[in-house]
Order: sequence, then C-alpha cells, then structure tokens
Amino acid sequence: MQVSFVKPGLPDGGSYVVACADGEKLSGAAAQVDKKTKGALSKAASATRFTGAKGQMVELLAPAGMDCDRVILAGLGKAADIKAATYEAVGGAVAAKLLTSGEKTVTFAVDAPEKSAMSADEAAARIALGARLRSYRFDAYRTTQKKTDKPTLSKIVVAAPDAGEARKYWKTLDAVLNGVTFTRDLVTEPPNILTPVEFAKRARALEDHGVKIEVLGVKEMTKLGMGSLLGVGQGSRAESQLLIMEWRGAADRNAAPALFVGKGVTFDTGGISIKPAAGMEAMKYDMAGAGAVAGAMLTLAQRKARANVIGICGLVENMPDGNAQRPSDVVKSMSGQTIEVLNTDAEGRLVLADAIWYGQDRYKPHSIVDLATLTGAIRISLGLKIAGLFANNDALAAQLTAAGEAVGERLWRMPMGDEFDKQIDSPIADMKNIGGGGFGGSITAAQFIQRFVNKLPWAHLDIAGTAWADDANSVQPKGATAYGVRLLNELVAANFEDK
Ligand code: BES
Ligand code: MN
Ligand code: ZN
Repeated sequence: MQVSFVKPGLPDGGSYVVACADGEKLSGAAAQVDKKTKGALSKAASATRFTGAKGQMVELLAPAGMDCDRVILAGLGKAADIKAATYEAVGGAVAAKLLTSGEKTVTFAVDAPEKSAMSADEAAARIALGARLRSYRFDAYRTTQKKTDKPTLSKIVVAAPDAGEARKYWKTLDAVLNGVTFTRDLVTEPPNILTPVEFAKRARALEDHGVKIEVLGVKEMTKLGMGSLLGVGQGSRAESQLLIMEWRGAADRNAAPALFVGKGVTFDTGGISIKPAAGMEAMKYDMAGAGAVAGAMLTLAQRKARANVIGICGLVENMPDGNAQRPSDVVKSMSGQTIEVLNTDAEGRLVLADAIWYGQDRYKPHSIVDLATLTGAIRISLGLKIAGLFANNDALAAQLTAAGEAVGERLWRMPMGDEFDKQIDSPIADMKNIGGGGFGGSITAAQFIQRFVNKLPWAHLDIAGTAWADDANSVQPKGATAYGVRLLNELVAANFEDK
C-alpha cells in the first residue's frame, strides 16, 4: 500500500476524508466539502447525531457537486485531547472501513485544531501510519480467497500544508511501521515454518540496514556453557539458536550499548510438564518477545537511531521427547549457577538466563530490558491490555513507563523483593525454576531472571497478556500486536540517543 503526501486540494476520485473536533462547527476542508455539496455533509452529520466525538464517522456516497466517490467526515474528539494517537486512530478506522470495500484510493484532509501542539505535517504522517498499521494482513497461506475478501485499497494520500515536511516525519514513522510489520509476520507464522533456525534466517534481512547479525548454534552454545537454554531445546528436532543483532548508531561506536533480550520459544508445549490440549495453539506466539526485539532493531536501524543497541533472542522449541529434560533435572547456566528444573513449562526464564548473561558478559551494556511472554499469571494480574514491568532501577522503570504511555503500549510496575526471591531457593541446586505454592507466579519468574543480572539497571517486561489480541482496535487487526516494538523504539528515542 502506497503512501504519499500532497498539497491540500479537492481530489478528483477515490474517497475523501475530512474531520471535525467534538462540538465544533465544520471548518477548513470539511466546510469546503459542505459548501460544494450544498450543505449535504452538515445535513448528513445532524441526521446521524454526529458531533465530532472520537470514532464517529459520517459517509456520503457519490456526493453531488464533487468529483470523488465518497466523502467521510471523521470525529476527532475534544480539541484539547487531540494527540498523535488521535490521528493514527482516524487513519486506522478509515483504512479498516475501506480496505476491502472496492475503493482503491483515499485522500485525507484532516485539519489540525488551531492551538494544537502537533504540527499539521506530523499529523498527516500519523494518519498514514494509522492507516498502514490497521491494514496489516497475513494472507501467505490462503490459496482460495474470495475476490470480495481481498484488499482493494492501495493508495493513501494525505494532504499537508508542507508535504515535504510531512514526508520527513513519514520517513521515521515508516521505519516504525516496518518494524511492527516484521514482528507481526514473525509472530503470526505457524511454528512448523518458524523454527529457531528460520527465525534467525529471517533476521538476516536486518543486515541490509546495517545491523550486524551473528547466530550461535548448539555447538557454540555448548562451548559457552549455556546449559540452561540448551536444556529447554534438547527435546526438539529443531536446533536451538542464539541470535545477536548489533546496531552501532552512536557517534562513539564504542560507547556502552543498551541491551534488549527477547524470549523466543517458537512453540511451547510445556515439554514433559505438558500443557493441556485446549488452547495450546496460542503457544506459537511464545516467541513474541524475541519478535519484538527483532522488529525494534529493524526500526532503529532503518531510522538510523544515534544509539548503540544490542538485541539478543534466545530461540528454542519446547517439546516432550525421549531426549527432553525432566522435572527434577539440574542444569548449569553460563553464569555458573545451577538450576533445578522442577517444571519444564517454566522454560522462558531458563532461556532468558543464558541469553541475558551472554549479552551482559560480552557487551557490557549500560542497561538491560528483556521482553517475554513469560507467565499466565500476568494475564490474571493485569489483563490483556497492559504488560507487567519488573525492574531493579526506578529511573529505567520510569523511562519505560513514559515511553509506553507515549506510544499506547501501557506498562504497570509490579513489586519484587527478597521474600519472593527466597521462594526459588532449591534444596539441591542454587535455585529452582518455579516458586512454591503457585501464587505471585509472575513475580517469582522475575526474581529468577534477576539472579542473572549483575548490578546494572535492568527491567523485565512480561508481555504474555499483550502480545496477541483477540479483537481489533483502531491501529491493529486482531492477532499479533508487535507489543514492544514501538515501546523500545520510543525508549531509545527519548533517552539513549546522541543529542
Ligand atoms: N509461555 C508460557 C506463558 C504464557 C501463557 C504465555 C499464556 C502466553 C499466554 C510460559 O512458558 C508458561 O508456560 N508459564 C507457566 C509457568 C508455570 C509453569 C510456573 C505458566 O504461566 O503457567
Ligand atoms: Mn511454558
Ligand atoms: Zn513459554
């Protein structure tokens, strides 16, 4: 789907979108359309109780006096509340409506309210982003799609006072779009296709954007002593991989990098501690943390972020097998610490332990953020819209929370403490991989990870609730959300880049 920016002016075909803030009179492009149609737009608005509230839309088909097929009047909500997300939502809602409607081209002419903090040119780029994000489709495996189910919308045109300026904003947002799309594709792929090896192979695409890619296989990881990660993958026919992505965008290439680590379990059966059959298909997205890290790396590289960032993905498949690890096995992690594996379904932390240790040991980062679909318990605690944030550092926690607020990927800080840490002491090894009693399972999981972090700022994001959406919203269809891509990109943009 093609995006372009143009000078304001009436289009000679396609659909034309104008807007209005809540409770305000039609003005700008909307007023112009109303005049051209001899009042038909304002009449349609009052006939449908349109006030300009957020999400409202009025549609005029084959409007007399205009050259286009359709006019849509979109509500922006209260003028004082209009922000980036408002424009993205308008773009998204219109794109969803038109995607398979038969329409090919849509032109937006959304005037920003007068005292708006955001420039009209940035607003134009935000509309394009929303439209593209919401139009995401994954049709790779459909061979018999009905013609009427296929997308028709192929051109998004957005009017901006300074189209060149809008294009500059779009360059950055296009990088965000591409990171999100890359992640959604990875997370949506079925697990017979997206094995650890295939995931690492696809990440090679980042090389074209200047990211250095390294992949370690079982042989290399064995040499490094990664018994914790390797134990999880040993029951699978698919080889475990450690994917390392290195982006050096800071003026000082040797400055300490940020380290992002993702859990990449390409399918989680639970292993010998096998999961019930019902709902197990969801475990194809147990690599969403790794997916988000890879997508964020793509965004950072594409927009040439002036920061050094390392992304590491621990990629394994957790299967039951004659060679699978058993509950009560003791494994030795790269850190030297030993782990009693009491539940093979608590595998994500075992993968992260070695991936984090490796990144920390080799790259001496200034901070670490890990992302993982780690626990069902976080879904119970926070629901499916907010991810859990665990951190050993208040400043990093605040930066992450603010970044999440800014991009609509909310986080909520969860407690940690010695009383939880005690619960993972083991009678036979340095620790066990589950807490006692089953309560506070997201917290004991975070405590486990913390045992592999040396004294540097670290945060763990439990995205088990937010990685997959059963309903669409204004900027995404249902399915893989790519939660974390925009958050990590914003974290870097707001805090880690050269001035
Ligand atoms: N991948 C799951 C967590 C999960 C659940 C992600 C639902 C997405 C949706 C994880 O590996 C797991 O199985 N966790 C166990 C831990 C338990 C055995 C301590 C859980 O949450 O039940
Ligand atoms: Mn599991
Ligand atoms: Zn898992």
